[in-house]
Amino acid sequence: MICHGRGFRLSWWWFMKNSDNPLTRAAEVIKSGGIVVFPTETVYGLGADAFNERAVRKIFKVKGRPADNPLIVHIADRRNLKALAASVPAAAQKLMDAFWPGPLTIIFKKNPRVPDVVTAGLDTVAVRLPNHALARAFIRAAGVPIAAPSANRSGRPSPTEAIHAKRDLGSKVDFFLAAEKTKYGLESTVINPLARPPVILRPGAITREDIEKVIGPVRLADAGTVIQSPGMRRRHYSPQTPLVLSPADWLTAAQAIAALIETYHRRQRRVGVLATRENCPRYKNADRIIVVGSRHHLKTCAGNLFKCLRDFDRFADVDIILAETFPEQGIGAAIMDRLKRAARR
Ligand code: TXA
Ligand code: MG
Repeated sequence: MICHGRGFRLSWWWFMKNSDNPLTRAAEVIKSGGIVVFPTETVYGLGADAFNERAVRKIFKVKGRPADNPLIVHIADRRNLKALAASVPAAAQKLMDAFWPGPLTIIFKKNPRVPDVVTAGLDTVAVRLPNHALARAFIRAAGVPIAAPSANRSGRPSPTEAIHAKRDLGSKVDFFLAAEKTKYGLESTVINPLARPPVILRPGAITREDIEKVIGPVRLADAGTVIQSPGMRRRHYSPQTPLVLSPADWLTAAQAIAALIETYHRRQRRVGVLATRENCPRYKNADRIIVVGSRHHLKTCAGNLFKCLRDFDRFADVDIILAETFPEQGIGAAIMDRLKRAARR
C-alpha cells in the first residue's frame, strides 16, 4: 500500500484522528512486526521496531544487507534516547544541542537492552533524530524507536524519492509512507564522539566545518578507522553501469573527460557523463549527458546525485559513466565520498 503524503503539513492532524489513516496503519504495521518505508530529510528509510529482533532481521533480508553492518536507530524525541544509550558524553550533548533534529547520526555506548542484531554485535549504537515532520509523526505513532537503513537494495544508490524504494524493494515491504523528494539527498553525517579526537565515519550535510565549530577538531575516517563503521568498508551507492571518476581536477575536467570519451569510443564503448551545468556544453562527443547541478550550488548537486546515478541505469544506453569531481570541502566532501564509493569495483 502506498500513501502519498504531499501536503502533509496541512493534514497531519487529520491523519492522527482517523484510525484508517496511513500514519496509523504504518504504526500498526510496525507494532505487529512489519517493515515500513518512510521519508526523512536525507533519504528514504526502511524501518522496523528497534526492539523487535525478528522485524529487524527482515530488514537485513529484504535489503540483502550483510549482518555485520549495523543500523541507525531513529527517535522522535530526545527523551527516547535513554532507552538506547547507556550514557551521553559532553561532546555528544553539544552535538545534539547544535544539530538535532537534523541530518546528524551520533554514536553512543549502547544500552544493553538494544538487540545485538541492530548494532551488529558492537557495544555502541547509532542514533538520529530526523528533522522531518512525517518521519517524526510516524515514529511517535509507532511508539518505539525505529531501526532503519536507507530503503535501497544493498549496494545501490540510496532512495531520494519513494519510487526508488518501490523499484528496489517492491512487494517485500509491508507499507510505504511516501512523501516528496527528500531535502538533502545524501545520508546523514555519522560521527563518533567517543573517539579521541571525535571521528566522522561518514561525511554528510552537516559538514566537518559545522561540527568543528561546536566541538573542536575532528578526524575524517580513513581506511584504518572505517572498521568502526562496517557499512563504510564497502563499495556502495553504485549504479549498475560502471562509473569512473575524472582523473583531473574539476576545473580541468571537461578537457580530460572529452579526451577519455574518445579513448572509450575507439574501444566501441558508449559513454555517459555525469556533468555540472557549466561543463555540459563541452561534452559534445558523449552518448548521454546527465546534469547533476551547477558547480556553484553544491547542495543541489548533492540532492540530485543518487537520482542521476539511477537514471543512467534506467536509460541503460551507455557502457560507462565518466563523472566530474568536486572540491572536497563542505558538502563537496560528502559528494566525493559517495562518488568514490560508486566508482569502487
Ligand atoms: O540519513 C541516514 O542516515 C539514512 C536515513 C534513513 O536516516 N539512513 C542510513 O542508514 O543511511 P544506512 O544503514 O544506510 O547507513 C548507516 C551507517 C552505516 O555506514 C553503518 O555502518 C553506520 O551507519 N553505523 C551504524 N551503527 C553504527 C555503530 N554502532 N558504529 C559505527 N557505525 C555505525
Ligand atoms: Mg545505506
